[in-house]
Amino acid sequence: MNASNNRILLIDSGIGGLSIFNELTTQLPFLSIDYFCDHAFFPYGNKELSTLVTRVHDIVENCLQKHSYDLAVIACNTASTVVLPSLRSSFDIPFVGVVPAIKPACALSLTRQVGLLATEGTVTREYTHNLIKEFACDAELTLVGCAELVKEAEKKLAGKPVDLEVLKQVIAPFKAKNVDTIVLGCTHFPWLVEELASVIEWPVKWVDSGKAIAARVESLLNDQASHLLDRSAAQYRFYTSGACSDIHLDHLPMDFTLIESFQV
Ligand code: SIN
Repeated sequence: MNASNNRILLIDSGIGGLSIFNELTTQLPFLSIDYFCDHAFFPYGNKELSTLVTRVHDIVENCLQKHSYDLAVIACNTASTVVLPSLRSSFDIPFVGVVPAIKPACALSLTRQVGLLATEGTVTREYTHNLIKEFACDAELTLVGCAELVKEAEKKLAGKPVDLEVLKQVIAPFKAKNVDTIVLGCTHFPWLVEELASVIEWPVKWVDSGKAIAARVESLLNDQASHLLDRSAAQYRFYTSGACSDIHLDHLPMDFTLIESFQV
């Protein structure tokens, strides 16, 4: 049995990854989490592959120099589609990535028309196209890459109003296709489900990866048994590479005990 640090690291370009954080705190309430928000480099969706890989490596290295973690979650689809193999070969903690939930969405669709909402980076990645080939079976996928939605989610999480016109335009391509299931292939998007549901004019099932990620983290931690003993000790720390004044977490259903600025 391995020694446990009772703490994991979660990395995202912004605060969208708090949707994964939410699932983790719900399913694993005893687990301490450090959230690293890379606002100085936000957004990841339009970055060159090699730049993104180097950046995430630097973050992990910096974080591991300061603290010990049982594992790290790359709570960003765009980064997960490119950095996981090199992270796994460079560091000796497990890494959990977030990939679009194409398989469960295709299993749910009755019309066999499934939508994928993600960043341009994610919808163009070979990784995503391989997932579609492997798991879509007889379903047809309509892919929409949209950076605007990432910004709208960040606005909402900063307590600002969401522009519903932007959301209407983003989902328009799904209507013509009779899409009945939409994959939220970016961790920012689950924060916009209410608004998306309010502008979509037909019934749709929304599928994200939060629960699957929490289950994967739980299974990896199962061997590190000491964290199971003390359920009162969970502590959440929030780090940002950007300005602390850009972070507004008071309205979120989670209690971070610390916000620190952290340069990479
Ligand atoms: C972004 O920073 O562009 C969002 C990344 C993602 O979760 O895919």
